[in-house]
Amino acid sequence: MPPQELVERLKAFGQQHLLAFWDGLSSEEQAQLEREIVSIDLELIQSLFKGNVDQPDWAAEARRAEPPPAMRLADRQGCGQSVLGLSPEEAKTSGANAVAGGTIGILLVAGGQGSRLGFEHPKGMYPIGPVSNATLLEIHLKKAVGLSNKYGTSVPVYLMTSPVTHDETVAFLAEHKNFGVPESDVLVFCQGTMPAVDGKTGKLLMAGKGELFKSPDGHGGTVAALAASGAIDHMKRRGVEHLFYFQVDNPIVPVCDAELVGYHLLADSELTSIAVAKQSPGEKLGNFVMLGDRLHIIEYSDFPDDVAQQRDADQALKFWAGSIAVHVFGVAFLERMLGYKDALPFHIAHKKVPHVNANGDLVEPSEPNALKFERFIFDLLPQAARPIVVEYTEQECFAPLKNAPGAAKDTPEYVQRFMIDQHREWLAAAGVSVAEGVAVEIDPTWAVDATEVAKRLATGSEISGTTITEPTYVGG
Ligand code: UTP
Repeated sequence: MPPQELVERLKAFGQQHLLAFWDGLSSEEQAQLEREIVSIDLELIQSLFKGNVDQPDWAAEARRAEPPPAMRLADRQGCGQSVLGLSPEEAKTSGANAVAGGTIGILLVAGGQGSRLGFEHPKGMYPIGPVSNATLLEIHLKKAVGLSNKYGTSVPVYLMTSPVTHDETVAFLAEHKNFGVPESDVLVFCQGTMPAVDGKTGKLLMAGKGELFKSPDGHGGTVAALAASGAIDHMKRRGVEHLFYFQVDNPIVPVCDAELVGYHLLADSELTSIAVAKQSPGEKLGNFVMLGDRLHIIEYSDFPDDVAQQRDADQALKFWAGSIAVHVFGVAFLERMLGYKDALPFHIAHKKVPHVNANGDLVEPSEPNALKFERFIFDLLPQAARPIVVEYTEQECFAPLKNAPGAAKDTPEYVQRFMIDQHREWLAAAGVSVAEGVAVEIDPTWAVDATEVAKRLATGSEISGTTITEPTYVGG
């Protein structure tokens, strides 16, 4: 018989079905199931299902919002009128000094399930390099090596996995010796999980007869996981003062870009984000807005059309700033947020979740049947003092791999096109042209940005001044 206390607790929340197969489980399986059940906050799950959670009225909030304080593209080119009054040249110097001084770390999140991509390994292991076939993780880690080469320093990488991606990711990194990043500069830590419930009944779903279905608790789980893993202590020991946060699915992120880091430092901002200008009011990007002196992201699905369509005197979108999930945080800010980590709200997603039904049969739903609960990293934004956003062009920074081949956007081909275009542009700026339709890719350990490419080519390279006519992995 299951322990009476457990039975009573489950009954109080209408979740007794979790014990339906108890008698057929081994004693180890029973103990494991009991541990899992005890670790779940049933009150929280119940209130999430019932919708008894504080959800702001986003439509009303959007109507009182203002655009965020920003360095727009024109400001970055020295011809704008930003209220921030920051100098791009000073920013580049200040950011470069900070990276060279070892005070900037990389925070890379790779715990997602990558369900839309339909790849059977962690998304970081997806081969995306248009010429090299390098995986996403290889590209990101090689950027850390490239930054070390450029600045003559080490840039530690804090890599978040989840129970879904952890073991394979760790084995993959070990097999490839972290793609050149020294072992002492890589800290892999695993985020937590949340159970899922049936969308109609609120009953917790089971992955097996003795096992609850659980999935990663969202990229907002980063804060709790950083604390639990000792990563913050590692940062303090290493003198890391700021983190460059980005997501594993975007291979063209300008990792630790000196200019971005520089604005963050010069503005004494606790949190600085890259924004891209939305091309249309309904573009599917989170909207950066100010509510009072606090920066928020309002998701596109919560942003009312009439507000999204507002234009300023120049006919440009008033709410122009779309989020691409690239941020720079102060470590001191993150530490302050540790006290707040459990207060990050859960967002609800309707998903297809395979599960065991009352007869013990595995059901593979064809339609979303379940509610999953995730925390989002951007819910930290309103806590930050003096936040700013910096506008980058999409080509400079954003090509996320989300979907399997054949979808309209964010597919492998789409991402590769952005990668090729970015590198083609860097080469062209340094006097190397690439023939139409020819794929090029730059090894990040050779050059991480356009400036590095120019330096490499100025000091003499076999491709200096030439036209590339065949697929080439430059520097690789
Ligand atoms: P997405 O929300 O796009 O999820 O994550 P995903 O896993 O890439 O893909 P789908 O939605 O299942 O198709 C954006 C980024 O946040 C990370 C992902 O690894 C990706 O880098 N993430 C997401 C986590 O690290 N943990 C999570 O719990 C969720």
